[in-house]
Amino acid sequence: QKPQNPGAPMTRWLFLPCSTRPDGNTLALARAAAAHLPAGAEAHWFDLATPPLPRFADLRARGGHVAPNGRLAELAAATLAADELVLVSPVYWYGLAGPGHEMLDHWSGWLEVPGMEFAGRMRGKRLWLVTVRADPAQGSQAPLEDAMRRSARWMGLRFGGALHGVGDAPGEVLADAEAMARARVFFTTPEA
Ligand SMILES: Cc1cc2nc3c(=O)[nH]c(=O)nc-3n(C[C@H](O)[C@H](O)[C@H](O)COP(=O)(O)O)c2cc1C
Repeated sequence: QKPQNPGAPMTRWLFLPCSTRPDGNTLALARAAAAHLPAGAEAHWFDLATPPLPRFADLRARGGHVAPNGRLAELAAATLAADELVLVSPVYWYGLAGPGHEMLDHWSGWLEVPGMEFAGRMRGKRLWLVTVRADPAQGSQAPLEDAMRRSARWMGLRFGGALHGVGDAPGEVLADAEAMARARVFFTTPEA
């Protein structure tokens, strides 16, 4: 993607889709929002579901966390290279979809890897959240948003904001006029 304004500083955006089905609602909403990135933005996408990330295991007590390799090394490199991280997740059981959760679990391992300096290199980046859920009830997205706000704070990340849509069958979110309207300004009006 070409920068729209060559004078603006370049920012690297990493979109992290978490849905376990292709071409779903969260991807549609995130793409609509990504069409309106700020000047100088460069968008990258890394699907967390396909192929699946290796399962995290907690090896902290044994000092067993080593530098990531394979797909995890690619993810770590893309994450550390990004200025802006966008979690693109359906609401699953009031929370983040498994692939997104798996990534955050790996963050806990990377925090322990000698010499990786994951915490220091993550500090100051910004986390954003894009979700779609089936339940139109206001508030059913709140636990997920709250968990991501707290996780961002805990990691020393700024929180850009949360964009929520409603839809169930693939593509239904495109009929959520409120969410689609907000998508157009979402990434240019950060909270922090
Ligand atoms: C395992 C699973 C759990 C779900 N849990 C919730 C939920 O807690 N609340 C809700 O409103 N919708 C829930 N849904 C519905 C999805 O959020 C909804 O279908 C969404 O549009 C899927 O996004 P996608 O098309 O990007 O995969 C769940 C769906 C699945 C498959």
